[in-house]
Amino acid sequence: MINIAMPKGRLALKVAQLLEKAGLIEVDLEKIDEESRKLVLEFEGFKLLLVKPFDVPTYVEHGVADVGIVGKDVLMEVGGKVYEILDLKIGKCFIALAGPAGEAEKLKAKPNKSIATKYPNITRMYFEEILSESVSIVKLNGSVELAPVLGLSDMIVDVVETGRTLKENGLEVYEKLYDITARLIVNRASLKLKPEVESLIETIERVVKSENN
Ligand code: PRP
Ligand code: MG
Repeated sequence: MINIAMPKGRLALKVAQLLEKAGLIEVDLEKIDEESRKLVLEFEGFKLLLVKPFDVPTYVEHGVADVGIVGKDVLMEVGGKVYEILDLKIGKCFIALAGPAGEAEKLKAKPNKSIATKYPNITRMYFEEILSESVSIVKLNGSVELAPVLGLSDMIVDVVETGRTLKENGLEVYEKLYDITARLIVNRASLKLKPEVESLIETIERVVKSENN
């Protein structure tokens, strides 16, 4: 039995499609949505554990999940002792510095700017290590786009997919910082001790390759 940790929400459907193409589940694409209160979905030979994105590396690190599917943004932010084994090339988005439309030049020149974000480590890394600039970081857990609108911060660092959330809140991208896709991570002991984990990875890898040819 293999346990796979994956996030609920936006990425879940894309992951389900990938697993379906790999012949691992029969979709039922709606299942993950419909049964969204069920946190464990059982299939032939494996279970899907539906967890919060930032908890995926934790489940894998502790070996409760053998493998995990999670955005590179989460891995950059929290890392964890997990082995990133495959770029799944789904869930494409990017991390951006963003703020009120039309105010990029003014705000980027401002000293001691404040940045609201779910990603304090990535934000610190970008400003302090790359730009050698100190900023004050306001850590939020979601709906980050509200912060500059309400004056909680000057700007935000957040992921952008379609750009709709920014646009509908009067914000725009100031800088594109990092490209993001979903990754397959694996617990090192599981990889060594469970041959079925290796074959699962190979199956998924084949699908990713054929999808991206
Ligand atoms: C994510 C992200 C952005 C939005 C980007 O938020 O934090 O707000 O999606 O997508 P878009 O460019 O297509 O609008 P999410 O919906 O995951 O909610 P949260 O930030 O409240 O956690
Ligand atoms: Mg958001």
